[in-house]
Amino acid sequence: MKSTNLTWHEATVAKQDRRNQNGHGSCVLWFTGLSGSGKSTIANAVSNELFRQGIDEYVLDGDNIRHGLNRDLGFSDADRTENIRRIGEVAKLFVDSGKIVTTAFISPFRSDRDQVRALFEEGEFIEIYIDCPIEECERRDPKKLYQKARKGEIKDFTGIHSPYEAPEKPELTIASHELTVSEAVEKILTFLEEKHII
Ligand code: ADX
Repeated sequence: MKSTNLTWHEATVAKQDRRNQNGHGSCVLWFTGLSGSGKSTIANAVSNELFRQGIDEYVLDGDNIRHGLNRDLGFSDADRTENIRRIGEVAKLFVDSGKIVTTAFISPFRSDRDQVRALFEEGEFIEIYIDCPIEECERRDPKKLYQKARKGEIKDFTGIHSPYEAPEKPELTIASHELTVSEAVEKILTFLEEKHII
């Protein structure tokens, strides 16, 4: 921490008050997986279904956040770590505000994800591994980035020249090449119901 002489001010309206008023719990659905694995697609489909049910929710998406809040960051290991640290802190604010927040970032490093997990109370951080073989991500190549990476036009591309560390014990694994988007959504909503978050 660079700043000193700071005092934490307890909020008058507590997280639990907000949850009570909303009539549902709050948590982060932390999606992780390769580029092209389906994170944003599934995150937005989950968001749509939760919203339709009247649940207070929001999606933080890697490509979008990198246009604004994190526009100063690139794809070096250190920048990715800072990207995930900031998003973890933003996600914590959303959870504190009583919402269900879904984050769709590659978040390739296990230690970065674990540091985010450590910011939360038990049960608030739900790690969802969007598991899709790289061959399939590369076949889909929706943004033609794998093609560019293979040609050497993008450096440090995840899965090609930069590592992806799959979660060891995610709360959920979604095999996105084997499930339809609506099956994936159903699996996530069932989990939220079982945990009495919704
Ligand atoms: S993360 O590794 O720091 O978590 P993040 O999810 O924010 O990545 O951004 C990934 C998105 O940035 C990809 O979906 C892709 O569209 C784009 N991108 C551009 N360059 C790269 C790269 N070198 N590696 C991975 N993704 C990249």
